[in-house]
Amino acid sequence: MDKLIGRDISKEYPGGITALKSVNIEIHKGDIVVVMGPSGSGKTTLINILGLLDTPTAGNVYLDDREITGLSEKEKCVIMNRTFGFIFQFFYLIPELTAIENVMLPLWIKERSYRKVRDYYRRAEELLVEFNLSKRKDAYPSQLSGGEMQKVAICRSLICSPEIIFADEPTGSIDKESSEMFFNFVQLLNKKKGIGFFIGTHNEKFLQFATKVVYLNQGEIE
Ligand SMILES: Nc1ncnc2c1ncn2[C@@H]1O[C@H](COP(=O)(O)OP(=O)(O)O)[C@@H](O)[C@H]1O
Ligand SMILES: [Mg+2]
Repeated sequence: MDKLIGRDISKEYPGGITALKSVNIEIHKGDIVVVMGPSGSGKTTLINILGLLDTPTAGNVYLDDREITGLSEKEKCVIMNRTFGFIFQFFYLIPELTAIENVMLPLWIKERSYRKVRDYYRRAEELLVEFNLSKRKDAYPSQLSGGEMQKVAICRSLICSPEIIFADEPTGSIDKESSEMFFNFVQLLNKKKGIGFFIGTHNEKFLQFATKVVYLNQGEIE
């Protein structure tokens, strides 16, 4: 991808709650965009709409020159699986799967080749090694610390080589040390692999290396 654009994005939830009001945003390849704003300002809603997890009430999202909000679920899933990566505040690891199985899952969904399962396993293991977590590969999420769960979530977001990673409050529920690690990985992945980031956060430390900062207030960009 070269750019991801949100044009006049509005979102109203049932009950007349306006979460976003005509938001315009442009993200270029390799950008680290940080979205700040008080709780309830619309950060999560914006991430979910740009990441195709939710649909806007009005407005469009363009990936390069292609409008993508109106695509079929199947076409959206292909983009979410191959071009986007996701890291959620509470990680959303699958509790019934081990750490390494969680990391393999997007690759399995992408290719579904029984012949290549060993290869998926090896690639997931390589990522876990990079994140110093290979010893815990057979642990279930309930047996991992918050910082470890986050590392598994990072590995899972990376396994299909995304071009942009959406992260919603990625340091919202981990300690200071794990947060520092996360800052380093964002910068490293950005520099080495050119991966872009779209991060919703309260953490002002992200501002140090953001290439673009967006302040949301009551659903509007300030
Ligand atoms: N599923 C939903 N149904 C109704 N209102 C929602 C829903 N999700 C979020 N909201 C409301 O939309 C506004 C923006 O929420 P959100 O995007 O989660 O903000 P933030 O991530 O900045 O805290 C808030 O007023 C919130 O209460
Ligand atoms: Mg939020």
